[in-house]
Amino acid sequence: MQRLVIVSNRVPAVRDRKQPAGGLAVALRAAVQDHPCLWFGWSGQQIGGDGADRALGVDTVGHVTYATIGLTHKEYNGFYQGYSNAVLWPLCHYRAGFMNYNRHDQQVYASVNTLFATRLAPMLKPDDMVWVHDYHLFPLGKALRDLKVKARIGFFLHIPFPPWSLMRALPEAPALMRDLRAYDVIGVQTEDDARNMNEAFAVLGIPARARVFPIGIDPDSFFACACEGQNLPQVQRLRQDLRGLPLIIGVDRMDYSKGLLERLRGYDTFLKRYPEYRGKVTYLQITPVSRGSVPEYQSLRAELDQIVGHINGTYGAFDWTPVRYLTHPLPRELLAAFFQLSSAALVTPLRDGMNLVAKEYVAAQVPENPGTLILSRFAGAAADMEDALLVNPHDSDEIAAALHKALSLSGSERRVRWERLRAEVWRVTAAGWARSFIAAMSEVRTT
Ligand code: G6P
Repeated sequence: MQRLVIVSNRVPAVRDRKQPAGGLAVALRAAVQDHPCLWFGWSGQQIGGDGADRALGVDTVGHVTYATIGLTHKEYNGFYQGYSNAVLWPLCHYRAGFMNYNRHDQQVYASVNTLFATRLAPMLKPDDMVWVHDYHLFPLGKALRDLKVKARIGFFLHIPFPPWSLMRALPEAPALMRDLRAYDVIGVQTEDDARNMNEAFAVLGIPARARVFPIGIDPDSFFACACEGQNLPQVQRLRQDLRGLPLIIGVDRMDYSKGLLERLRGYDTFLKRYPEYRGKVTYLQITPVSRGSVPEYQSLRAELDQIVGHINGTYGAFDWTPVRYLTHPLPRELLAAFFQLSSAALVTPLRDGMNLVAKEYVAAQVPENPGTLILSRFAGAAADMEDALLVNPHDSDEIAAALHKALSLSGSERRVRWERLRAEVWRVTAAGWARSFIAAMSEVRTT
């Protein structure tokens, strides 16, 4: 059987069972089980010196070999924090104003992609299928081809791809599009992303290449996790605390793309416009700090602290806290169980590639009493989740009205909406996503 080579900036922490499994690791679990696999990427460590003698860390678990390298401080700053997370990330999320562009970081980004290619190429065999993930590695395919790698190489972009009118704000955008020609298969999340990317190719006279492969979750395992989690002491304590009152939940990395400030303003409006809910509902927002040394993320944290303090200070009572706000990650089992316990979820990104929390929330519900999903129209997931309460995440009145509606829908209305969403979440799964991408790579002819 052909070997699958996965390349991503983040590689799952194989030995540290306490660390929550990341989205990509969960999504690729099925693919990894079906093939002998090499997973190559960054170790997550920063190393001293200039990296000339950096070691390759190799760890084999079952039939998956994880091979990782460290990044120097300069590479971490220029490649990861700088060009990936302070240029490409905001631009692809339609926030060109948040770009902090400089040529030095671009050069470091290019050199880290070349470094990845140089370390990976000697490990590759001609009949491998190499699957590259996400915006950190746009030029990797081209860098591998420059090293005469003949294997099939596919690329999947997990985040949105903006219209060319926006993308061209990046000085290297034409070069980036030309580099993408090195890939045999290019996958994106939604029809909008494919249209945007193919229009960008068209502007440059490159044939359309992008195809849609929407990502999903493993709903059976998430549902099982939510059910098993009901016995956890934390879940029982939360249930007691709630005293039968409804819980609203939000779970997001602390990122400006997630619409957290706008969401909290929506909750503020909700408590203002519908005073009958004061003291009668709890909102739990779980927001692990992310990319904490990028300036935009630091100011977001300060603003979130402020608005949470404002809401709790305005509406709180000695025996009621309107927003419970956490900035550390919780284990997947606990999150799944909290999803099952809650009456509504707020998933309101300003822009998101897909958003798997929306799918996980649906998967965690029990048929007799499902909660209601409030979902941004600008999440990739919204394309196939029309039975959620869809909102414009910029409009606090619409969020407030959706919260009121979610908490007052009849049991049968909730069930009808949820059953349709459920069918969708079980139709488009992580395993199906991986299988169809790998099938597309298998169809490519090698010379
Ligand atoms: C998004 C990206 C991933 C990234 C993840 C966490 O989901 O698409 O590529 O790994 O965010 O961000 P981090 O910067 O911590 O890797």
